[in-house]
Amino acid sequence: MAMVCLSDFEAYAKKHLPKIAWDFFAAGADDCITRDENILAYKRIHFRPRMLRDVSMMDIRTKLQGTEISFPVGIAPTGFHQLAWPDGEKSTARAAKAMNICYIASTYSTCTLEEISTAAPGGLQWFQLYIHRNRAVSQQLVQQAEALGFQGLVLTVDLPYTGKRRDDIRNSFCLPPHMKLKNLEGAFEVCKTSLLDPSLTWNDIYWLRSLTHLPIIVKGILTKEDAELAVRHGVQGIIVSNHGGRQLDGGPATIDALVEVVEAVQNRVEVYLDGGIRKGSDVLKALALGAKCVFIGRPALWGLAYKGEEGLQDVLRILQDEFRLSMALAG
Ligand code: FNR
Repeated sequence: MAMVCLSDFEAYAKKHLPKIAWDFFAAGADDCITRDENILAYKRIHFRPRMLRDVSMMDIRTKLQGTEISFPVGIAPTGFHQLAWPDGEKSTARAAKAMNICYIASTYSTCTLEEISTAAPGGLQWFQLYIHRNRAVSQQLVQQAEALGFQGLVLTVDLPYTGKRRDDIRNSFCLPPHMKLKNLEGAFEVCKTSLLDPSLTWNDIYWLRSLTHLPIIVKGILTKEDAELAVRHGVQGIIVSNHGGRQLDGGPATIDALVEVVEAVQNRVEVYLDGGIRKGSDVLKALALGAKCVFIGRPALWGLAYKGEEGLQDVLRILQDEFRLSMALAG
């Protein structure tokens, strides 16, 4: 089967992954309205293309917090990559490095941070943190990530509790016994209790700031009010995200929320977006509305499910080609 667009990888993953893994990747909260809106919202946005502008030479590189990447797409943090491919996050790291883009490794990785960083030495990697009730665990992870050469700290703020994902409940979703949350081994048992700290407030950004020199990027902002608070608390970046529609169902599509966040931030920090990016033209729309870069969640998992590192590179190359073509055709 020729893999032409990201939907082809989705279809492959749906057909070949065990149902419980597919359901977990695909899940949205409640009725999945926000998950689906993330995608539908792009279809309502139209270009005003311009002609005769010499598009024979185009530069699609950009910078994330000062580091150059080959094009404005990165890998959003998602947990449990071994559910998609045996090598798990090591394959993800290698693909991101080969494409010279940013990979945000999740707290809930099935490889250790050390395995991830040594799989792709010199690759641009950020670490995504969930703050746990046991602060010593979080502190140790942050300091380990910095020591290993991760270049950014992404604090996910939209998960005080896990959203209600019906299929995961029906399937009694749990990691298979041979997979482990390697970064939290011994810290807690994921399926039994969640030790995420629901008491977090903006003041905890100061605590995080005291632990690390890395740029802090908050992930999960959807309003101008929170964007302003994020900037005032000294973060270096914002990811407009609704967790792929897996948390609060009924919130806005991220591409719609982007506009008010960008307007509030006024270029004081970099603004990124994730959620619903499935085509190069989606990337261009997000950039046109003020995002510096976008990140893909599920499409990266589909690429891994197809052929590991190689499959993920295929996904990224298709997005890159489509993005370049959209830029040219839009003038
Ligand atoms: C996620 N997401 C996520 N976010 C995060 O900060 N830490 C995590 O561990 C995870 N885990 C996770 C697992 C799976 C299976 C999915 C689908 C998502 C959210 C992720 O970073 C991102 O916000 C969305 O996936 C973006 O939407 P798309 O690209 O999947 O539409």
